[in-house]
Amino acid sequence: GDNGYAAWLRYDQMTDEKLTDEYKGWTGELVLPSGVPVEGVLKTAAQELSRGIRSMIGTTPTVTHEASQQRFIVLDVLGGGTWVDQASGIVPALSDEGYILKTIHEADREYIVAAGRTEKGALYAAFHLLRLLQSGAAIGQLNLIESPKYSLRMINHWDNIDGSVERGYSGRSIFYEGNKVLTGSDRIRDYARLMASVGINGIAINNVNVHREETFLITEKLLPDVARIAEVFGEYGIKLFLSVNYAGTIEIGGLTTADPLDPNVRAWWKEKAAEVYRYIPDFGGFLVKADSENRPGPFTYGRDHADGANMLAEALEPYGGIVLWRCFVYNCHQDWRDRSTDRARAAYDHFKPLDGRFEDNVILQIKNGPMDFQVREPVSPLFGAMEHTNQMMEFQIAQEYTGQQKDVCFLIPQWKEVLNFDTYVKGAGSTVKEIAAGRVHAYTHSGITAVSNIGNDENWTGHHLAQANLYGYGRLIWNPELTSEEIAKEWAAQTFGGNEKVQDVIVNFLLESWSIYENYTAPLGVGWMVTPHYHYGPDIDGYEYSKWGTYHFADHKGIGVDRTVATGTGYSSQYTQPNAEIYDSLEACPDELLLFFHHVPYTHQLKSGKTVIQHIYDTHFAGVEQVEYWISRWLELEGLVDEERFRHVAGRMNRQLENAKQWRDIMNTYFFRKSGIPDAHNRVIY
Ligand code: GCU
Repeated sequence: GDNGYAAWLRYDQMTDEKLTDEYKGWTGELVLPSGVPVEGVLKTAAQELSRGIRSMIGTTPTVTHEASQQRFIVLDVLGGGTWVDQASGIVPALSDEGYILKTIHEADREYIVAAGRTEKGALYAAFHLLRLLQSGAAIGQLNLIESPKYSLRMINHWDNIDGSVERGYSGRSIFYEGNKVLTGSDRIRDYARLMASVGINGIAINNVNVHREETFLITEKLLPDVARIAEVFGEYGIKLFLSVNYAGTIEIGGLTTADPLDPNVRAWWKEKAAEVYRYIPDFGGFLVKADSENRPGPFTYGRDHADGANMLAEALEPYGGIVLWRCFVYNCHQDWRDRSTDRARAAYDHFKPLDGRFEDNVILQIKNGPMDFQVREPVSPLFGAMEHTNQMMEFQIAQEYTGQQKDVCFLIPQWKEVLNFDTYVKGAGSTVKEIAAGRVHAYTHSGITAVSNIGNDENWTGHHLAQANLYGYGRLIWNPELTSEEIAKEWAAQTFGGNEKVQDVIVNFLLESWSIYENYTAPLGVGWMVTPHYHYGPDIDGYEYSKWGTYHFADHKGIGVDRTVATGTGYSSQYTQPNAEIYDSLEACPDELLLFFHHVPYTHQLKSGKTVIQHIYDTHFAGVEQVEYWISRWLELEGLVDEERFRHVAGRMNRQLENAKQWRDIMNTYFFRKSGIPDAHNRVIY
């Protein structure tokens, strides 16, 4: 059966004879003009090409450093002084990790140059060429120049050393089990391949919540094992990062303080950094969750985030390491009676005043929204608000609040909206996309990271279709100009093959899935309403009287959070104009965020023309119908998709339908009872 393990790197044997012959003509010989490497990333690139070609076309290319055939593939590093430099011509604007894919026709021979500015670029070129072959593209006239938009293209794992995965919906960790690092596993290599194939170049392998045992990851007890993972990553051009415990000096260092200005604390971290780099020379750096959700941090010592981050930055600086300092900082012990505290304000209020105080090798890692990866939130107003401080984006591929890989929710459209959001911090065009690329303010480091959605399930992501989020994430942060549709199509073609009907159903289902999920869950940007702690399934008041700062304030008259300046928390003023004004205004605020910014009566009329209450009813009925529709479409694929994946997806979709119905009925009943206003269409409400 097909368990989905190969994900998008299936390299199924081609069935189109004509195309196979055409490809065969080009792929018989793989030429490495600078010599066939015995190690390193270029060797990986050659291996990957050979492997993919053999698998798809049936013949293994001859790997050589001198061309002997009339058609062949060249794999090289540009600027290395080989004949390829000249043949390729002048390549403008190619960044360090960029590459070219170019078909060159000479009098007596033709060849495809897959070459990078660096070995890593060559690896990405190899994967790109394989992607073209896998999707049956024409390769006779290639002329592609590719450079990644972001320099840091990262994944964060929330894996614990006991083998559990925080917010993991796909089995257990591939990195750890039973308080041990799993070093011998092929899975880690296969994972590195998958990630490199979409351009990921940095992976933090442990949870931002660093518990007791994980604190030892930066000690000689565990570093030899971590180094083995780093080696495998290194072959695929991926740097390894570790989450560290801010209180390491106390927990394992034998000191009584973690005061960032204490010389002994600083000395300890310097020694630690030296030790880590002895084991892992290309170590990426530290990821830190400090003074957040009960994690230790500099606040204990009357210091601030800049003091804390800079202490670690100083330790890593001699080795080129960086500190990824998270901005997910808020009061998680809020009294629900307290209406003046607004969790949405917290990141901006904490960090904005610190602008300019952080070292050059610190990057603030900011979640896309001010709350927590909800199905709908505004963009965090912190983006671009700090001109003199490096910033990067944090997305969540794991579907914590978006269906937990039981329900389908393709997140690329959501991420694109975030990236395309114009902050206006330096006038029109100051989009998040450009800010995270360090092109609005000149950052020394920038990029995008995301919480992984993989585990040791055979198919990596629990739901087969959730692989699309992982693939799409990598593709999107390489090139955010790709459309959601292009990404979905690429993925579907590689993962489910070329059948048009199959592609059509999968792509369109994916593209609609976020809006479907939004339809049957919390309405109009208000968020939450999920089962506390688990975050799957409805519990409208589950968080209403809790300490977490996540309220909807529904009563018999209305619903929503007043975040306006005049009568609310003033959160809207954290945005630059005109956004501040738009969000603050009941008339101008976009429907989908209305309840995030305003408390309104159920009878308030939306821009759509509907009242809020009717919108709630309509979207919840619609959400269930949409899931039913897509189940029927999926069932049409029986016999066109392999049995195992067909059944698996059908099974998950039935669970999704149950979830959608539960949301529909609880939401509609709850708001009918609260408001006393009946559904205009008299549908069943309990
Ligand atoms: C969410 C999530 C936690 C996680 C936290 C974080 O609140 O539920 O499990 O630790 O985000 O990002 O630090």
